[in-house]
Amino acid sequence: MADYDVIVIGSGPGGYVCAIRCAQLGLKTACVEGRDTLGGTCLNIGCIPSKALLHASHQVHEMHENFAKMGIKAAEPEIDWAQMKSYKEDVIAQNTKGIEFLFKKNKVDWLKGWGSIPEAGKVKVGDELHSAKSIIIASGSEATSLPGIEIDEKTVVTSTGALELEEIPGEMVVIGAGVIGLELGSVYARLGTKVSVVEFMDTITPGQDLEVARQFQKLLAKQGLEFTLGAAVQSVDSSGEKAKVAYKLKKDDSEHVIEADTVLVATGRRPYTDGLGLAEIGVEMTERGQIKTDGHYATSVPGIYAIGDAIEGPMLAHKAEDEGMAAAEILAGQAGHVNYNVIPGVIYTHPEVASVGKTEEQLKAEGRAYKVGKFSFMGNGRAKANFAADGFVKLLADKETDRILGAHIIGPMAGDMLHEICVAMEFGAAAEDLARTCHAHPTYSEAVREAALACGDGAIHA
Ligand code: NAI
Repeated sequence: MADYDVIVIGSGPGGYVCAIRCAQLGLKTACVEGRDTLGGTCLNIGCIPSKALLHASHQVHEMHENFAKMGIKAAEPEIDWAQMKSYKEDVIAQNTKGIEFLFKKNKVDWLKGWGSIPEAGKVKVGDELHSAKSIIIASGSEATSLPGIEIDEKTVVTSTGALELEEIPGEMVVIGAGVIGLELGSVYARLGTKVSVVEFMDTITPGQDLEVARQFQKLLAKQGLEFTLGAAVQSVDSSGEKAKVAYKLKKDDSEHVIEADTVLVATGRRPYTDGLGLAEIGVEMTERGQIKTDGHYATSVPGIYAIGDAIEGPMLAHKAEDEGMAAAEILAGQAGHVNYNVIPGVIYTHPEVASVGKTEEQLKAEGRAYKVGKFSFMGNGRAKANFAADGFVKLLADKETDRILGAHIIGPMAGDMLHEICVAMEFGAAAEDLARTCHAHPTYSEAVREAALACGDGAIHA
């Protein structure tokens, strides 16, 4: 008899959620984790610590920008960087210990160490061999760099090093205007760093609805971030006192160099499957190094499954969580399912950017007949009171049926506001359904309703 019904490898949001759900569904479950704490990249060196620093630095921004306007006189804020980092560590600890508690509560065994799979049905952790009817790989992803750039996590850093800098840099170059570059770039810009972002594409956050991306860039520029777009970074030389970032502009091939105290490389992540022994047991991979899975998270080797950043799809904690729950349900004989058309994406800057479903550019490319309902936070009383009127809600609906096809919000609490639209989309709702739903006043969410009204007879406050 096998030691376990399921062994999950990796305790990030994909793995720990999967393990808990397996246990809840009556499966004897263990989760392998080699870090000293549970929670993976997200809780230890990703989503959670970056949100702590975003929150803290946002308070500094508010003090600078808005306190005096509200009649609050405060001295120039002094940043105690060591304390700010210690607050971040405390937030991490609360969260990682929380998962440990949930494991105990749900009777999930934590197998401490790095796991490998010598054969289907077996997981080796340290010197111990454990057996399981099913193995679920949830090993996540790691930051990628560019050729010619050596990461030392001191001067040239990934997101990991950027959360641990010894001091707040005077100048920072961010390579890549994606989610990580803009979130962490925002943190340091608010703490007084001169932040220059160099991006290969001609817009920031490539793939985002273009109207939102343009507005987002304007607002970040107002906060002091400088952008060089259409620029391919060639190399980083960190041998001198300042790091030198060399890039080439695509429009004329001209070569430029900018200097900085710290360089953040935020050019994407790749699946992390090192040391699992997948090649040896014949697990098929995609050309991009992802584990190949079928619609039920099964790999090419019977009894081995994979979820999260290690497989195809957006590298998002919540996508991994949903796959974790679905995989657990499938193993328990239920009909686990993830609706990949309704996966929200959020950038936790200020304002936030949140999107779900199709962008306007995608609808155009598909030749779909659609309508746009847009509402600016300028017409939202709550946003005006809170100095949060920059931005808008943009709803895309089918021209004929009025069914919601996508939503893009740039504005206060956009990430939280988005979910009523996600729920509506899950139920196949029309824009009119949102428009006819009473929304409390005064809330930011009224802007969602107004955008829905704008898909029909028109918004009231526009
Ligand atoms: P990303 O894919 O979002 O952005 C990378 C950017 O780097 C792209 O805009 C790309 O065009 C640019 N780039 C690539 N090569 C370049 C070069 N040679 N010179 C200049 N620019 C170059 O990747 P990022 O920000 O590193 O994030 C990694 C993953 O983590 C993403 O999948 C992201 O969704 C996820 N993540 C999600 C968060 C969230 O949901 N809030 C937060 C942090 C990460």
